[in-house]
Amino acid sequence: MNKFFLTTPIYYVNDVPHIGHAYTTVACDVLARWYRLQGREVFFLTGTDEHGTKIARAAAAHNKDPQAYCDEISAQYQQSWKELSISNDAFIRTTSPAHIRAVQHLLKLLWDKGVIFQGRYQGKYCVQCERFYTDEELIGGLCPDHRIPPEVQSEDNYFLRLSHFKDDLLNAITQEDHPNHFKIYPLERRNEVIGKLKQDVNDVSISRATLAWGIPLPWDRSQTTYVWVDALVNYLSAIGYPDDKPRVDQWWPADLHLMAKDILWFHTVIWPAMLMAVGLPVPKKVFAHGFFTVNGQKMSKNMGNVVRPGELVKEYGIDGARYLMLSAFPFGADGDFTADTMKTTYNAALANKLGNLISRALNMVDKYCEGKVPTGTGRTLAQAVLEDLKPIEVQLDHLQFHLALGALMAAADRVNGFIENKAPWKLAKESPEAVKEVLWEVSLSLKAIVFYMIPFFPETAPLVWQRLGQTDDMKARARAFFDKPSSLDLPAGQAIQHGVPLFPRK
Ligand code: MSP
Repeated sequence: MNKFFLTTPIYYVNDVPHIGHAYTTVACDVLARWYRLQGREVFFLTGTDEHGTKIARAAAAHNKDPQAYCDEISAQYQQSWKELSISNDAFIRTTSPAHIRAVQHLLKLLWDKGVIFQGRYQGKYCVQCERFYTDEELIGGLCPDHRIPPEVQSEDNYFLRLSHFKDDLLNAITQEDHPNHFKIYPLERRNEVIGKLKQDVNDVSISRATLAWGIPLPWDRSQTTYVWVDALVNYLSAIGYPDDKPRVDQWWPADLHLMAKDILWFHTVIWPAMLMAVGLPVPKKVFAHGFFTVNGQKMSKNMGNVVRPGELVKEYGIDGARYLMLSAFPFGADGDFTADTMKTTYNAALANKLGNLISRALNMVDKYCEGKVPTGTGRTLAQAVLEDLKPIEVQLDHLQFHLALGALMAAADRVNGFIENKAPWKLAKESPEAVKEVLWEVSLSLKAIVFYMIPFFPETAPLVWQRLGQTDDMKARARAFFDKPSSLDLPAGQAIQHGVPLFPRK
């Protein structure tokens, strides 16, 4: 029970990442960092999805060989994640030989189980979504997501008998004691999946006869694997499936697949059906967050409103960008980002509240305590701050990032309020000892705040730690703290440090 395997979707390499991709990846990173602090063994997976018509066309449009094109864009994904301090344990690419082997192995098992049959497909395909749509699903004849007309495709290929799994899937989702029970969140999305499953479930075509840029079917090399079937297997190939059984057993099933609502059906219906068919356990939890717009518009190259993660980092720093993404609206709901609100939020929360608290507290320690962490006995403030912070534990289990960040800010507010109230600058004239006691309470509370900052602010938390004069391993201390919160303490006498403002005002 101690392990935690969590995944982002693997992103298409038709273009470099935008903040939509960063949103999911940062959310996953916060959880990965959080569970590591909780002493769990974490495996955090992300990667790139590199086969299919969409990628083949993008490569052709750039006059590039598809593999060379994938190498280039996949490298840009990896670079972007470094620039956001993403702590993934692995990065899977679907053009890697190990992944290709895994896909062929799993397909062969499905074939041997008799759940694949040959048929003729005629349907409307959206290349941008890489999926077929029924007429009812189209809106005014257009893809509901991309608002473009689908392409009519008709060819002989292979199908997965998805209809066969309908009842079992419904039971797996709705019955807690089902051997393949899995959770879907938020509940509204879960109900949508259940609703759709109760209607007719179509068998799904799993191969393409006319597309060369894909993984050949092991039993019919004239056909390539449907890109979604190929992509879903990444969650297994990344942990060594099928060759490294001990490693697969160690990590599988995934504890959490995280994504936006656009690809929930693939993860809660097609993927579990594939797994059930070959007798593998299904993921434990699938969470679909909302879709966001920028200035009220869906991001698109045509609109010219695509925001790249690097632009946000340049403006607000790594931690600023991470904060802005996760604090703007509830995770799970749809939302909107505007440049103005980002700036206002950054200034109000990070510059004026958190950043200001840290710098004023340290300045006062400097001024009234000879630059050394003072000794004290009072713990009332720290106790109250810990009460403010405690809900974060449950909030993160429920992926309520904006609430968790709200709790962190409430703790900062409390300490700021305490400083205002005690007014050390006045007190200093009456009782230097009383000022030390006040600043001891403040410093101890800051230490508690740092522990909860670690998952969200991977760059700033270690800086605050250093500035508080702490020299031992922050993460080890944090793990010990989360194991036993009453152990919170702050060795006195250590020299605090100064530096540039942590969240400079914009
Ligand atoms: N390659 C497939 C996933 C295969 S997983 C086995 C794919 N790729 S994608 O590049 O289109 O990424 C879709 C995902 O990117 C969404 O599910 C979400 O995680 C993220 N987002 C992209 N744009 C987004 C928004 N505008 N808002 C929120 N999330 C966004 O689908």
